[in-house]
Amino acid sequence: MSRATQRTAPRPQPAKSDDWPPSWQVLEHGIRVGRYTDPEFLRLEFEKLWPRVWQIAARLDEIPKPNDFTTYEIGDTSVFLVRVDEETVKAYHNFCPHRGTALAEGAGTFPHGNIICPFHGWRWDTQGNNHYVLSREEFKGGKLCPEDVRLREVKCEVYAGFVFINFDPQCMPFDEFIAPIRWLLDDLNLKEMRHYWWKSIQVPANWKVAQEAFFEGYHVPATHPQLEEDAARFIYGERIEGEFTEYNHLNVAYETFPHGHGRFYAGKPSNYQGNVKRFVKGGKDPVDAMADRLQLLVDGMDAQVLQEDVDLLRTLKGKPIPEGSSLGAEYVRLLYEDAAAKGRPMPKLTPEILNMWGGELFIFPNVMVLPQAGNAMIYRVRPHPTDPNRSTFEIFSTRTLPAGVEPSRAVVEHVTDPEDPNQVYLIPRQDLGNLKRITKGLHSWGMRQIWLAEYTEQIIMGMHRELDRYLRD
Ligand code: FES
Ligand SMILES: [Fe+2]
Repeated sequence: MSRATQRTAPRPQPAKSDDWPPSWQVLEHGIRVGRYTDPEFLRLEFEKLWPRVWQIAARLDEIPKPNDFTTYEIGDTSVFLVRVDEETVKAYHNFCPHRGTALAEGAGTFPHGNIICPFHGWRWDTQGNNHYVLSREEFKGGKLCPEDVRLREVKCEVYAGFVFINFDPQCMPFDEFIAPIRWLLDDLNLKEMRHYWWKSIQVPANWKVAQEAFFEGYHVPATHPQLEEDAARFIYGERIEGEFTEYNHLNVAYETFPHGHGRFYAGKPSNYQGNVKRFVKGGKDPVDAMADRLQLLVDGMDAQVLQEDVDLLRTLKGKPIPEGSSLGAEYVRLLYEDAAAKGRPMPKLTPEILNMWGGELFIFPNVMVLPQAGNAMIYRVRPHPTDPNRSTFEIFSTRTLPAGVEPSRAVVEHVTDPEDPNQVYLIPRQDLGNLKRITKGLHSWGMRQIWLAEYTEQIIMGMHRELDRYLRD
């Protein structure tokens, strides 16, 4: 499929049945709120979406060595993933075929590759073959065959440093599912990104509400006023009449792809790109102005921009910008030179990939990648098994490492208080801080639908249309 044809999302399909509740409708310009608040809708998602969609069960960094395992929960089902060897990962339904005991909990390593049930000691290898049943002759008249006691496999694909799984043996081939965004994931070099930190946060919102808080740049001036001071001053300040036209989000391009994926990126030169002087106030040095702004992302996220990158940028201070170049271009040149000297893998150096820095790639149904220079934040949101108003929000911070530096195994940190500045950095804390109020508003008796901006909020619409293709099938 050519890139041009991959880039156009299909038109929404008309409803197949008439019994679809009005409160679950995707409208032409908005979304009915039952899709977020109705426990029946959540149940339908568990019946028709999650058992059939490709989903990211883990980063490969969670199981770096042979015999390492980790578990993945979605709804009330559990899967464990085990690294068989350098190349192979297997996923199994997490139960013992004898009487159902979960064979794995959390993460760890199966000693010598032996998977042993703690209840009666049945044993398997990492390929899922059973090697031991105590008093085997007592079962099935002594005729227990290997297939009766094999571990039950789940379809599994390793790609871009992720372990994708699909519970449906008849599912869409993985290559077809990922094709529309494969060129981006490949060129962003996601597969070389290693664990930096990983946090899991319980949030008071439907899983879709939680992820849609990150599907556009439209919220930035109001939610993150420190990142767009002039715009925030207009929104919250004295000057609220008239029009303000300097919003950074007006420079952001949005795109939806087949299979529900989407992205936003630097579509046009921003107020900042190639025009640093506009941001330079009070005679500030342009390098300081740019570095101070990036520092807000370091301090506010720790990983969307790395401290070492800002430190490198500051070394440009006082140096002349060569004819035909720009401060931004010099910064990129320096980053790549530094990475090459350290043997550190970087994203492909193309305009399309550079435009993704500071943008976002959405992998349907529930993962967002926010890439930068050799590092990326990855968000994953999972629904609560029964409560439509709660979800688990995870942040995986990843980066490439210099040659010879051994990556550490990814271990999740559970956030106990999402409002604690020591546990959650400012920027995600601001985003997640809105969720309680959104949930409250969506439950208001007066609330029927949300409105969506046609261009800027198209990833939300694209996600819901794809969701309907699963739910209404
Ligand atoms: S339940 Fe696993 S060996 Fe009995
Ligand atoms: Fe945000």
